[in-house]
Amino acid sequence: MKKIQDANLENKKVLLRVDFNVALKNGRIKEKFKIEACKETVKFLLEKNCQVALISHLGRPEGKINPEFSLRQITDDVESILGLKVRFISDCISEEIRNNLENLSDGEIILLENVRFYEGDEDNDIEFSKKLAKGFDIFVNDAFSASHRDHASVSGVAKLIPSFAGLRLQKEIHEMERVKNDFARPAVAIIGGAKIETKLPVIKFFEEKYDNILVGGKIANEALDQKKEFSEKVILPFDFIDDRLDIGPKTLEKFKEIISNAKTIVWNGPTGKFEDEKYAVSSNEIMKAVLNSGAYTVVGGGETLEILEKNNATDRIDFVSTGGGAMLDYLGGGEMPGIEVLSEPLIITD
Ligand code: 3PG
Repeated sequence: MKKIQDANLENKKVLLRVDFNVALKNGRIKEKFKIEACKETVKFLLEKNCQVALISHLGRPEGKINPEFSLRQITDDVESILGLKVRFISDCISEEIRNNLENLSDGEIILLENVRFYEGDEDNDIEFSKKLAKGFDIFVNDAFSASHRDHASVSGVAKLIPSFAGLRLQKEIHEMERVKNDFARPAVAIIGGAKIETKLPVIKFFEEKYDNILVGGKIANEALDQKKEFSEKVILPFDFIDDRLDIGPKTLEKFKEIISNAKTIVWNGPTGKFEDEKYAVSSNEIMKAVLNSGAYTVVGGGETLEILEKNNATDRIDFVSTGGGAMLDYLGGGEMPGIEVLSEPLIITD
């Protein structure tokens, strides 16, 4: 994979794919973690005198302009988190971008409007990718959490101009490889949340490699209802609170005992309906058990991150991935077009 450390970046115009798909409340961001994640890469590029434009999606506006999903709303937050002057441009393919790249002041960067305002992004339309690439010398992908998407702003544009992995993307891959291939035992995965079908590949992966897989949340109910069969390493809840909205005390004790002996833990997804305080008991208790275990811990997924942030525990985790779906796909052996393309030759276009 080509990395930015190997690129000739001096004075280049760089299109930097970040993932600013963050939860908002009244137009302000609810968590800053995903924005902070690109800080090092931006600094690295500015030190090489690059002119940098950030490109991201926000939500799912389905190819239509919708102010509710405008990145304009987060410009001030981006500015304060990155500690840089940020110039917002209300489009991501217009001529205006080229003009603005020419006259940025020192330490100033551009934030482009939501790329999903165009259907061409999710359709991975090559003509749209050409428009995105126009005027840029280099493309950098620093958005691990969007790298499972085969979209124009993730993989399409990377086929057209020299493209490199940013520092955050490299770090995420390094950590994923560590928990995949180079981990201490006992190794335990905790998988919760919803949609069993999307989580089966990752449960299967851990079943082959790890010592225990603790399954909670809605997926545990789905697995029980659908009579899914697993090896004895996979532990499904055997008691519940109310209408299976949280795992019961006996299951929680069993989970905590296994966690306390672990040397490696991967955690993705709450084990109950945690947004309702009454059913957040197991998720909070599991978080405490994870912190007390002393195991090398990797956590991913927006909801799991919320549990950590609510308890001011994010800094106590060895590695917090920006990826929810991307982390599950990466570990479960799914395709990662945004990463794979960084090892491929460019395609020649007119
Ligand atoms: C995420 O938040 O997981 C990523 O930004 C991907 O978003 P998406 O599922 O809308 O593609």
